[in-house]
Amino acid sequence: MGHDTALDPDAMAAVHAAAYQLDRPWTAAEFRSLTDSPHVLALGDTRAFILVRIIADEAEVLTIATHPDHRRKGLARALLARFHAAARARGATTAFLDVAADNAPAIALYLDAGYAQVGQRRAYYPRRDAPAADALLLRRALD
Ligand SMILES: CC(C)(COP(=O)(O)OP(=O)(O)OC[C@H]1O[C@@H](n2cnc3c(N)ncnc32)[C@H](O)[C@@H]1OP(=O)(O)O)[C@@H](O)C(=O)NCCC(=O)NCCS
Repeated sequence: MGHDTALDPDAMAAVHAAAYQLDRPWTAAEFRSLTDSPHVLALGDTRAFILVRIIADEAEVLTIATHPDHRRKGLARALLARFHAAARARGATTAFLDVAADNAPAIALYLDAGYAQVGQRRAYYPRRDAPAADALLLRRALD
């Protein structure tokens, strides 16, 4: 489905690695194969981006990340708004996402953007020095 011009797979991998500090960061090749899908859309730039999948009436956030140097400037909020508009324009009526129950900044972002919790998966996200975190399934109507 494509991506914004300043946002190639290398930029996505760099922002993602800086934002998430994972043991095994997502690679540029993985981002390329995701954005090759006709259902996947990437929005953003080298400071912050969102990767989403839109299929029929459902839209899903695959990942969202803001580089630590650019946090709390409204970038993620603006990306969610662009995602909602793009998904609506393609006929989606509902947006979904998963968030770790211990990720307070992301939960605050999503509640602020109109999402509500509709489910919970126990012990879904492994943690290095702590028990696995639950995943919260959040949903927002797009119409
Ligand atoms: C979550 C994340 C994407 C937020 O990005 P951001 O661009 O800094 O967010 P915004 O500036 O658009 O914030 C919008 C609102 O979200 C909430 N929020 C964002 N970060 C927050 C924090 N650290 N603590 C509390 N609330 C926060 C606030 O309500 C904020 O509005 P305000 O600044 O007017 O108070 C960013 O912290 C990040 O990349 N985290 C690591 C990756 C991650 O956890 N992604 C989500 C996984 S599901």
